[in-house]
Amino acid sequence: MIPSAKQYHQRTSYERNKLSGHYLDWSNQPNPFKEYRGLDRVELPRDVQGSQASLDAVLLETPGPADPEKITLQALSRMLSLSYGLTTRSRTPGGEFFHRSVPSAGGLYPSELYAAIQKTPGIEDGLYHYSVAHHSLVRLRGEGFSQHADPCLVFFITAIFFRSAWKYRDRSYRYHLLDSGHLAESLSLAIRAESLPAKADYDFEDNEINRLLGIDPDLEVCLVKMTVLGDASPAADLVQVQPEASRTAAKETAYPLIREIHSLTSTAASGLPPSPAIPVKNADETLDRFDGPVASPKMGFADTVLLRRSRRNFIPQGMDRETLWALLRLLCEPTGPACDDAIRVGVLTSEAPGVEPGLYWLDRTEKAWTLAEKGNLIPQMTRICLDQEWLANAACHIFFAADLDGLDATCGPRGYRYAMLTAGRLGHRVYLGATALELACCGIGAFYDPEAADLLGLDKGRRMLYLVAAGPSK
Ligand SMILES: Cc1cc2nc3c(=O)[nH]c(=O)nc-3n(C[C@H](O)[C@H](O)[C@H](O)COP(=O)(O)O)c2cc1C
Repeated sequence: MIPSAKQYHQRTSYERNKLSGHYLDWSNQPNPFKEYRGLDRVELPRDVQGSQASLDAVLLETPGPADPEKITLQALSRMLSLSYGLTTRSRTPGGEFFHRSVPSAGGLYPSELYAAIQKTPGIEDGLYHYSVAHHSLVRLRGEGFSQHADPCLVFFITAIFFRSAWKYRDRSYRYHLLDSGHLAESLSLAIRAESLPAKADYDFEDNEINRLLGIDPDLEVCLVKMTVLGDASPAADLVQVQPEASRTAAKETAYPLIREIHSLTSTAASGLPPSPAIPVKNADETLDRFDGPVASPKMGFADTVLLRRSRRNFIPQGMDRETLWALLRLLCEPTGPACDDAIRVGVLTSEAPGVEPGLYWLDRTEKAWTLAEKGNLIPQMTRICLDQEWLANAACHIFFAADLDGLDATCGPRGYRYAMLTAGRLGHRVYLGATALELACCGIGAFYDPEAADLLGLDKGRRMLYLVAAGPSK
């Protein structure tokens, strides 16, 4: 049994010249769409107009009260399609590929979305699964999902282990968390766009929620609970609902390390994440605040979501200070209580008007950054990211790092989920901010872990978790 989340992270590190080839069994490719048989379905209206408030407004403005009257079928349809709906399709050698409002490591989409709904004008009470393929809600339960008589709307995000493990094997638990973080942010914004509040919770009772959802907890597990209104909690005698639907391929290999890390992190956090605990190497003490002019994107929120894609066609052109700060400002807004301190955000920049090339760390509370090291480190980071050469042209590499020892010590292993989910959430903001500013953007989960830590001056248990590149494109 692994003793700590840090051990999992280290055991799934990529190291140069030590990557073992893995044969992908295309005949056993997991189905990216979860299907239930013979259950009632509620078709969601497709022609609903999404919010055209700006991304900034959706993110920065305080949403209205949690009024059940706002939860109509149209509103639910918008929330679901903007958070996880299909956006476009493309042809790949493997066949047709359906893109969604969120990115996903390898395009494997391990996450599923569920909603417990009670006493709202939109829909009959029930626990529902969101069928992405059909844009409909499948009714899993009519009762037993809420012990309270009050209105409720609570979403749950799960991950199906094998979908990503098929390609990434033991390392895929990282992607289960990062992908679920992307979806959590996407959902939170889609809820806020309805002028409703969204409260994320990563520290629920795992067994209880998996039982509520009726899934097979050996194959699929809940990672995020997102509450809009009221609460959902299972009756004691709930039975599973077609647990075999959590199976996505004919032959599923079990990856014991994934089960181990998930069960290790299943204990509730023993405390809140510590204050950002990454000492900054050679830091210039002065904080440079993001209070100058920033670029203001004109694109509305719904269009931004629909146009989001991973784009790799960067051109070698820096990003001026106004544009860069328009992006970084978005990362300073909190994601929720107790989550934000689990990670630190850093940026590698190239030469551009008003920007000194270098390694910077963000101070999210002060809405400022501090220069830690001068010089353009983007070419070196490109080599570290498995030599994905197009990354060298990106104007900036925004990365998320954590002190894994500090998290283990203060929160216990659950802190790892906080850190990875938060990295995914902020990564999603980079994607949407870049889209709104008409920049290209792509998330990077594949990098040589020890080399990334060395380059960024992260010692001991401190590690880079995720990187998102952004910049002007063709
Ligand atoms: C956690 C995560 C890691 C990713 N890692 C990489 C990567 O290392 N290299 C890459 O080219 N794309 C990477 N991507 C982008 C995915 O390949 C992309 O989201 C997926 O193919 C779907 O395409 P779309 O984002 O254009 O809809 C990553 C995305 C996520 C969310």
